[in-house]
Amino acid sequence: MARGASTRAIERLIAGAFRTALGRFPTGVALVTAAPGGEPAGLIVNSLTSVSLEPPLLSFCPSRSSLTWARMRRTQRFGVNVLARRHEGFARRASQRGADRFAGVDWELGPGGAPLLTDALAALECDTVAEHAAGDHWIVVGRVENIRISPVDDPLVFFVGAFFGADRGRSVSPIGGV
Ligand SMILES: Cc1cc2nc3c(=O)[nH]c(=O)nc-3n(C[C@H](O)[C@H](O)[C@H](O)COP(=O)(O)O)c2cc1C
Repeated sequence: MARGASTRAIERLIAGAFRTALGRFPTGVALVTAAPGGEPAGLIVNSLTSVSLEPPLLSFCPSRSSLTWARMRRTQRFGVNVLARRHEGFARRASQRGADRFAGVDWELGPGGAPLLTDALAALECDTVAEHAAGDHWIVVGRVENIRISPVDDPLVFFVGAFFGADRGRSVSPIGGV
């Protein structure tokens, strides 16, 4: 009994340290979308990752408790909208449980049928090619079918549990080819 309680306490400590450690890894922020039954749905995520160039694959990780993903997954395709610094207020509101994920933003359906924000830094449409169970999340892999790129602007960054804007003016060391 006592051992069980201390094991749970250690697990809580590890979970907290894990969250803190990964919070030190800055990420971008994206709105993943779909329109199941013609109704636009969206999920703010920071788990977006490029997976493969040939073929072009990306992934993101919706929570197994996400009610929104439970609806979105039915379409077997999804949109990815890369958010800019100017989307901070939108991202803050849209990440609340039960929020209207399209309030105050302009969007239209892309050629593949996913809602795309008109002013996203980049917007992609993907076909879902795999959905792996991974702990309390899913790893969803999508094959990119359409890409729309907008003029570059300051990105929205998530770091130590807060939104930041990156200062592009300080980028002095570009890596070739990206
Ligand atoms: C910066 C940021 C990143 C997030 N990343 C994810 C994510 O990768 N996966 C996820 O399921 N939820 C993520 N969330 C939480 C969801 O946006 C959302 O709040 C939650 O899933 C709402 O519940 P619902 O899916 O039932 O509507 C993130 C929230 C914030 C603010």
